[in-house]
Amino acid sequence: MNSHCMSLQMERAVRSCSRWFCCFCSISTGVFGSIDVLCNRVVLLLLLRLSTVALWFQVSYAQQPGGVVVGYYQNNGLCNADVEGIVTGIVSQATQADPTMPAGLLRLMFHDCWVEGCDGSILLDPSASNPNPEKTANPSATLRGFNVIDQAKSALEAVCPQTVSCADIVALAARDAVTGLNSGGLELDMPTGRLDGLVSSAAEATALIVSPQSTAQQLIQQFEQRGFSQDEMITLSGAHTIGQAHCNQVIGRLYNFPGSANGVDPTLDPTYAAQLQAQCPANNPDPSSGVDLDPITPFVMDNNYYRNGVSNRAVLASDTAIFQNFQTQFTSNLNSNDEPLWEQEFGDALVHLASLDLKSGNNGEIRVNCRMLNASNK
Ligand code: HEM
Repeated sequence: MNSHCMSLQMERAVRSCSRWFCCFCSISTGVFGSIDVLCNRVVLLLLLRLSTVALWFQVSYAQQPGGVVVGYYQNNGLCNADVEGIVTGIVSQATQADPTMPAGLLRLMFHDCWVEGCDGSILLDPSASNPNPEKTANPSATLRGFNVIDQAKSALEAVCPQTVSCADIVALAARDAVTGLNSGGLELDMPTGRLDGLVSSAAEATALIVSPQSTAQQLIQQFEQRGFSQDEMITLSGAHTIGQAHCNQVIGRLYNFPGSANGVDPTLDPTYAAQLQAQCPANNPDPSSGVDLDPITPFVMDNNYYRNGVSNRAVLASDTAIFQNFQTQFTSNLNSNDEPLWEQEFGDALVHLASLDLKSGNNGEIRVNCRMLNASNK
């Protein structure tokens, strides 16, 4: 059995365990409620650790030849400059100028990797040969950070021409986005060695980017189809501890919500719903206005997304779904109580996300300009 199969089997075990271990603990601890809770927690922690080992297998698998490794450019003698450090410097400058930029860069990597894999396909501008790249799709409308990627690319082209892929810059910028903020114990090394893709389709982005109206079951399925466990999906959703959602993403929960007497989604805390209504008025809200996904610490990579969620204060309907559904509730509750555990899991899951469906051989290139294919640049 190869390591990939082993990790999948372990993950399946963890997923089914999260349904049966509550019964196991209830039976084995009998009527002592507090022991029951403690037992559930210990068993779940053990299972999550096993899931981390499974992820390690997955990451190792991705680092086979043709995959990605930490320090790819230096280790292979391709660029003697400090590639990672150059990207960090540019991201840090951009964050000083606009403290909301890390959130934009983190989301940019999610959208890049989710469609066509991590290959910089989200960066391509419309062109005569491809008038509708991913960037022009509806779910891409509010993506940010393209200029930051351009700046990092120019800086890298100056020291090592046509060497560092745009896809790697997106991944390194996402790493800097999360570790450069006040991120507590969140640490991660981002492997490099990706190629830039040749394909970019708005239709594909529209079909694949996960809807904020998704149910928990739909989220589980869509992440599972891309090789992510249920726990990884819940862990990655913690990215919504920084950044903003525009009012159009939340307005449907605040006014004329179907079946609600006062028009407000009953799964929202009423005081919080009133705050959101003040920020997003019913009539002609400013299309550029938005609300913090974590109103308590919007610039800190902490577990407040989960703390808010368990108190019915999640902005997006899809986020609320994770806290309401029996299958996903336990891990989201656990993350709300255990920040170091979530940080560890988030770093691992982000590296897994950054290894998705990498291009190789003739399917990729190192672009000179991140916004256009080399063939269009001649
Ligand atoms: C689980 C499925 C997900 C759904 C349905 C979802 C949906 C959304 C939506 C609708 C927004 C607001 C966009 C806007 O109004 O401009 C948003 C923002 C954001 N998302 Fe997600 N997302 C998901 C997963 C992720 C993942 C996996 C990451 C990163 C690892 C991520 C990172 C972010 C960030 C950082 C923001 C704030 C962006 C900003 O301030 O510009 N999301 N997401």
